[in-house]
Amino acid sequence: MNRPSSPYASQPEEEREPTATPAAPSAAQAPLSDREISLIRASVAVVEPLAADMTVYFYAILFTRYPDVRPMFPPGMDAQRGRLLRALLRIVDLVDDPGGLVRFCGHLGRDHRKFGTLAAHFPAVGECLLAALARFAGPAWNADVAAAWTKAYGAVAQLMISAAEQDAAARPAVWPATVVHRLSRGHGIAEITVRPHLPYAYAAGQYVSLETPWCPKQWRYYSPANAPREDGTLTFHVRAVPGGTVSDALVRRTAVGDVLRLGPPMGDMVLDAAVHSDLLCVAGGTGLAPIRALIEEVARRGGRHQVDLFFGARTGSELYAVNDMLRMAQRHHWLTLRGAVSHEHVPGIRGSLPHVLAEYGPWYQHDCFLSGPASMVASASETLTFHGTLPDHIHHDPFETPVLSTR
Ligand SMILES: Cc1cc2nc3c(=O)[nH]c(=O)nc-3n(C[C@H](O)[C@H](O)[C@H](O)COP(=O)(O)OP(=O)(O)OC[C@H]3O[C@@H](n4cnc5c(N)ncnc54)[C@H](O)[C@@H]3O)c2cc1C
Ligand code: HEM
Repeated sequence: MNRPSSPYASQPEEEREPTATPAAPSAAQAPLSDREISLIRASVAVVEPLAADMTVYFYAILFTRYPDVRPMFPPGMDAQRGRLLRALLRIVDLVDDPGGLVRFCGHLGRDHRKFGTLAAHFPAVGECLLAALARFAGPAWNADVAAAWTKAYGAVAQLMISAAEQDAAARPAVWPATVVHRLSRGHGIAEITVRPHLPYAYAAGQYVSLETPWCPKQWRYYSPANAPREDGTLTFHVRAVPGGTVSDALVRRTAVGDVLRLGPPMGDMVLDAAVHSDLLCVAGGTGLAPIRALIEEVARRGGRHQVDLFFGARTGSELYAVNDMLRMAQRHHWLTLRGAVSHEHVPGIRGSLPHVLAEYGPWYQHDCFLSGPASMVASASETLTFHGTLPDHIHHDPFETPVLSTR
């Protein structure tokens, strides 16, 4: 870290004032008291309406005081701005839930390895975060609030650093992976198969963050459409969203021989989460990818689950992998496939996935795996709950920044 004007940067570690810098405190630090928690929550309530401006200010001072960290971030910072704030709000929510906080910070710390984050970066981020909070909290900021935030940030930083250190002992931060196959499925969808240069352990149904050479530092999440293979390859189904940065590059530019980078696998939508023998799978668009991986996993384990798959799209031609799925259904007697098309009349089933789902069933004795656009997943989940499925039996990925989930 290089910031000559920082009172901390030029001091040796042992001379630093421990309460003045929200760095990484000792692991044995006392938990936050009720008073400290309420001081933190009260200050968040004050700055929350000013969140957008506060986050812009935070990054402005971070990059001015510590120009060394700027190259770690993407050139355009819009998405990250919102995510940092949401993470802080999530931390404030969890501040009196030690288990949730440990899980959350563990995910965050492990996930930060791919950005190149080091323990030495935390004091800088903490210093600028507190400066931004102090400025935007105005008269609501005082020495007690500052001390409570210093302690809270220190605890979070320590959890993130420890999780990252443990993770570093076990596996790489990123996995370079060469594109070995690319297939256009039409409608802006491509199937991209990569071979990681190092062994990449994941479970069917998980998702992976991915960086392309054309959009450095811009990580996005994609779900392998296959259960782990002996040759170690992974196939992604990517749809180019209108105006999309990474998805467009993946669909239109990727060629065999290109090298992508994978972050660690994430997510709990895995077969071991199923407690019932019958599975209901609901997939919209490229949400089919992790569902397809789960179906392959059922097959790998000998087909011990009866699987009902509903696969939906707006038009018949957008059911991009229907032939592949029909072939799987022909091969496996335990798999039943039904298509749902919402915006076109085609022979078969017409209607939105949640609507079609309600006509079949009952599903309350199934484990339900949902994947696709957030609105589809939310309304399918609502339909299932309405018809008696317990929330514990409904499995789906987080809708947005997955690391913000505490599971
Ligand atoms: C857990 C998880 C798993 C995912 N798995 C897959 C997958 O297997 N295949 C796949 O194709 N995508 C998947 N996604 C979505 C993917 O991560 C990206 O969000 C998507 O490819 C858009 O990225 P982008 O950089 O192209 O768009 P950005 O440049 O980030 O956004 C550009 C514009 O597109 C809009 N936008 C962003 N995402 C979407 C979207 N999904 N649909 C419509 N508009 C959008 C934004 O609001 C913005 O206006 C997954 C997302 C999550 C959270
Ligand atoms: C308590 C401390 C911190 C919190 C709560 C936090 C939170 C977050 C969150 C929620 C994200 C988005 C993750 C995602 O999209 O998957 C993120 C991204 C990032 N963070 Fe942190 N972070 C912290 C500390 C740090 C530190 C010390 C650094 C190092 C300088 C750092 C560098 C980054 C970078 C480079 C990104 C990626 C930016 C992007 O993709 O747009 N963070 N952080």
